Amino acid sequence: MYKSTQLTYPFLHPFTYMPPVDQQSLPPFMMLDRGEGSWVYDEAGNKFMYLTTAVPSIGLGNSRIIDRICKQFQRLSYASTCEQNHAAAATLAERLISIAGKPMSMAFFTMDGSGAVETAMKLARQYFITQQQPQRTKFVSIEGNYHGTTFGSGSVTHMGIQASFGPDLEGCYSIPSPYHHNEQKEAERSATSLQELRSIIQEHGGDSIAAFVVELVQGVNGAVPMPKAFIQELAALTSEHGILLIVDEVTTGLGRTGSWLASHDYLINPDIILLSKGLTGGYFPMGAALFSEQLRDSMFGRGGVFLHGSTQNGHPVGCEAALAVLDMIEEGQLVRNAQLQGMQILTRLRSELEGHPYILDIRGKGLMIGIEFVDPHTKSGISMEWGGRLSANLRREGILGNFFNGALIIYPPLNITSTEAEFIWKGIVNAIRAM
Ligand SMILES: Cc1ncc(COP(=O)(O)O)c(C=O)c1O
Repeated sequence: MYKSTQLTYPFLHPFTYMPPVDQQSLPPFMMLDRGEGSWVYDEAGNKFMYLTTAVPSIGLGNSRIIDRICKQFQRLSYASTCEQNHAAAATLAERLISIAGKPMSMAFFTMDGSGAVETAMKLARQYFITQQQPQRTKFVSIEGNYHGTTFGSGSVTHMGIQASFGPDLEGCYSIPSPYHHNEQKEAERSATSLQELRSIIQEHGGDSIAAFVVELVQGVNGAVPMPKAFIQELAALTSEHGILLIVDEVTTGLGRTGSWLASHDYLINPDIILLSKGLTGGYFPMGAALFSEQLRDSMFGRGGVFLHGSTQNGHPVGCEAALAVLDMIEEGQLVRNAQLQGMQILTRLRSELEGHPYILDIRGKGLMIGIEFVDPHTKSGISMEWGGRLSANLRREGILGNFFNGALIIYPPLNITSTEAEFIWKGIVNAIRAM
């Protein structure tokens, strides 16, 4: 039986690393104590720029957001949206539909990103039942996409999750990622990926596939932007076969990539768009699935019930938090700021680190930036141990990043200043040079 000196408290963290039995201890987790703007403080009072996750899109402890949330708590601290409505949910649905633009027509609220993905998969299946095509049950996505770890969302996430839990949903396939840092290779890989999709369609029948699920910039996989031409061809191909397009904007949505939605920048019209993280900026756990007029009209035109939801969907405090965050993004022109500051960081990282033997690629979009490393001796991916040392160097520079799968990913808040952007790229450059 494994005994770890570190497992002294009964909290199983998400994505806990379970070390091999011969390893005696887990590294202790940093204990975070408080946060302010782009910064967090640990229990010893050390201050770090918090870039680990895309959730706090407008920073921490913002008094304007907190005031509005507190007022909502006092006014209506909870309301079921199963059989009643409230102003915050009604207003938020309209606001999100207006940001997304046509053909989006309705919003369904969830408690997180995985819930939004589950909802999209159910919406797609029910839509086809109302279309007299109940055989359309399958889903296709791209390798390296991350959509969550619940059964549905985990089934379209092809990152090895299934190995821990046994069989997932039947009929979920993936095509290889088209991305490559070399443009010519990327064009070749795009053609291969699309060919793979055509083969899946041919083998299983296009009319057996409900939807294609895509992240336009893969987050967890290392801020990997999908090529625009590839996405447009993909959208045309899925449409040709009547396959719905679900765009997972849980990370990219609401300003992160320097556009309100990455779908706008890629010039596509998805059938379903998913939001979470930046929707409430972490001030309340929440997600949303927006869906098109075509889905709405088909589902509402044929009776029946949408048998999906939770008693806490559309929580008034979450909806108010989202409205307050959207106000801040709009008034502060933070979508534009994300574009400008993201460009500053990306350009400086590229110029300062060009030719570094351990760097394979520096990439990203807006304030979603990744650096992929390579071991120059073995020419293969970098070790966890190397990543651990890099993270320690970054902490010494006052930065909490996110090292996963051989890449460093950073998600600065949309409202960072130029001075903070400079702090970020300088800190990362110093940390890498010190390796
Ligand atoms: C693109 C994407 N979709 C879905 C999810 C799942 O969201 P959540 O962790 O809120 O369930 C994530 C989480 O990282 C994500 O990055």
